[in-house]
Amino acid sequence: MKILVTGGTGYIGSHTVVELQQNGYEVIIIDNLSNSYLSVVDNIEKITGIKPVFEQIDLRDETKTNEFFKKNQNIAGIIHFAALKSVGESVEKPLDYYQNNILSLINILKGQIEFKINNFVFSSSCTVYGQPDELPVTESAPIKKALSPYGHTKQISEEIIKNTSSNANINGILLRYFNPIGAHESVHIGELPIGTPNNLVPFITQTAIGKREMLKIFGSDYNTPDGTAIRDYIHVTDLAKAHVVAIGRLINKKNREKTEVFNLGTGNGFSVLDVIKSFEKISGLNLNYKFVDRRSGDIERVWADTTFANKELGWIAEKNLDKMMLSAWKWEQALEQVKRNK
Ligand code: NAD
Ligand code: UD1
Repeated sequence: MKILVTGGTGYIGSHTVVELQQNGYEVIIIDNLSNSYLSVVDNIEKITGIKPVFEQIDLRDETKTNEFFKKNQNIAGIIHFAALKSVGESVEKPLDYYQNNILSLINILKGQIEFKINNFVFSSSCTVYGQPDELPVTESAPIKKALSPYGHTKQISEEIIKNTSSNANINGILLRYFNPIGAHESVHIGELPIGTPNNLVPFITQTAIGKREMLKIFGSDYNTPDGTAIRDYIHVTDLAKAHVVAIGRLINKKNREKTEVFNLGTGNGFSVLDVIKSFEKISGLNLNYKFVDRRSGDIERVWADTTFANKELGWIAEKNLDKMMLSAWKWEQALEQVKRNK
């Protein structure tokens, strides 16, 4: 069975391609390589022994996207990862975010309707909840005003998918990710941020390996036990596996509604200092860090109620924080090794 994975050379997409192939799916990747490298395709092959088909297409281009669908019939489902994802950048360049994330989604959904592809899985984010009133946050929590244009694109995308699937023969699953971290155990694929990373874990590992001087902890005065902000970190392979379950659920028509929503996290909240302590434990290193002001747009605390995903999908995140940090650290060390060998 053929699955189209957009953004499949990216961080979460590449890990999902591996899991799909290992579960017998044939994968076609579309990516414009705006935030990933073509070498990822070969690295996927190193893990699975199968080279996924790769098409370099910018999904903002309606004509090219439509031509792709004309050439590639019999696609059983689409997993749509392709998007821009930097919260800070989205504040500086809101139109780029609306144009990229919304236009790409519309072009994909148009293709789905025209070429009768019924199954659609979408990468959403816990950012749609803003700062929830109650924790852990469930899928039925209210959607608050978005704190960034990036977050807004996810809210709008969810609405577009719900509106489209209610009128067309499309079944959708919206997966709200919490904070994916870590890398594949083979260390052939992992998070490869271009430029300075925005996210906590690549910043920690890059500081530890000497690429960065110091980690800045954004805020020490939050209303949390140690004053630093709390998130629900989930290993990227655990996250990737949920996509295989989700697409299978749609293909086998096990979904209960036309559009379903699932939180994907571990259900545990960890503070920035907890993450650093875990890193120091697994690496045996002392991390160089200092406290600075809060980062604007950050929320204080969020973690998932994963009951619905655990029960309905029969899926559970397995890796604990130490294992996630160890895998992120091994990946950073493997990248350094590749650099030294060049
Ligand atoms: P990523 O940047 O590593 O991967 C996204 C991929 O999409 C990249 O390879 C990029 O080149 C491609 N892409 C972007 N715009 C495109 C376009 N117009 N046409 C074709 N390809 C395009 O990001 P990721 O961390 O793997 O995130 C994947 C998805 O998950 C995104 O939708 C993101 O918003 C969402 N998400 C990520 C996180 C996270 O913390 N990483 C959290 C919640 C949700
Ligand atoms: C954000 C978005 C998420 C988005 C993701 C992708 C929210 C609530 N979440 O996650 O939807 O998909 O980015 O990029 O908007 N931190 C530091 N120092 C650093 C970096 C981070 O202290 O150098 C702290 C942050 O303040 C935060 C935690 O680490 O408390 C995690 O930050 P980050 O990895 O950037 O993820 P989020 O902001 O939670």
